[in-house]
Amino acid sequence: MDLQFNRHRRLRNSAGMRSLVRETHLRTEDFIYPIFVVEGEKIKKEVPSMPDVYHISLDYLNEEIDELVGLGIQSVIVFGVPAEKDEVGSQAYHDLGIVQKAISQIKESFPELVVAADTCLCQYTSHGHCGIVENGKILNDPTLNLLAKTAISQARAGADIIAPSNMMDGFVAAIRHGLDEAGFEDVPIMSYAVKYASAFYGPFRDAAHSTPQFGDRKEYQMDPANRMEALREAESDVIEGADFLIVKPALSYLDIIRDVKNNFNLPVVAYNVSGEYSMIKAAAQNGWIDEKTIVIEMLTSMKRAGVDLIITYFAKDVSRWLKQE
Ligand code: PBG
Repeated sequence: MDLQFNRHRRLRNSAGMRSLVRETHLRTEDFIYPIFVVEGEKIKKEVPSMPDVYHISLDYLNEEIDELVGLGIQSVIVFGVPAEKDEVGSQAYHDLGIVQKAISQIKESFPELVVAADTCLCQYTSHGHCGIVENGKILNDPTLNLLAKTAISQARAGADIIAPSNMMDGFVAAIRHGLDEAGFEDVPIMSYAVKYASAFYGPFRDAAHSTPQFGDRKEYQMDPANRMEALREAESDVIEGADFLIVKPALSYLDIIRDVKNNFNLPVVAYNVSGEYSMIKAAAQNGWIDEKTIVIEMLTSMKRAGVDLIITYFAKDVSRWLKQE
């Protein structure tokens, strides 16, 4: 027989050979770890739908960060779960709000750690929406000023990165303008540029107590069916002054990650969201999947799709695994 074909298996013959031709690598420096801070004392309470993810009070926060730093993790994103909420989310932009206090505490004890602040209102509003509500409508323009105020108070507390997740039109422009006016022209914006209205955020809303009390977020977050719209959203944020672009969720949106990577020259970030985390944890706890192999495969696929950084609840696990190798 005189068959002509290529022998692809030559490059898969041994672990050494496979390692030599591996195209994508995970590094601990790729990860940003989300932290949920709560008011009160001596609280380290597991989020029921997110095994190994905790609500942490400020007195326990340094312990948590010590662990992260010990693992080589270089960056965190901080979410506040305030004790009190109101119509306009005042705790989001209070200088002594829970997030502001957490950020200044972290920066004081761990000045090298890169601290990002999630800039949104939904955890802080009584109705759970990301903006000001009037007659059942989520108002765009009146919300912008509150977002800028929130970003400025977070920067004042010491945040190294402002990460607005709110999906009002013009939010990057408003925040950039606000930061610049307040003297924070050197603080970058990591914009949740492409954020879909996704059921994958379910467990986070348990964690952050931010489920909308009426309706849903489809008037401001994107339709999962749309791809062109992702490019329009990203383009606006680039023009308005974003320094990083987040695509969220990650796993069902790898095509969008690749599109964003190919069309813009800013660092691209995937948010490997709560539902993606909890699905894997639940299946692993049932013994249905091999957690370590699946997590590494999943995060590697995000990097292969084009991301530079990954916000992930798996950051601690993966950093531990990478250390063992
Ligand atoms: C706030 C915000 C959400 C997430 C991050 N920031 C929730 C939402 O939009 O409902 C979700 C993160 C996750 O699911 O892990 N707007």
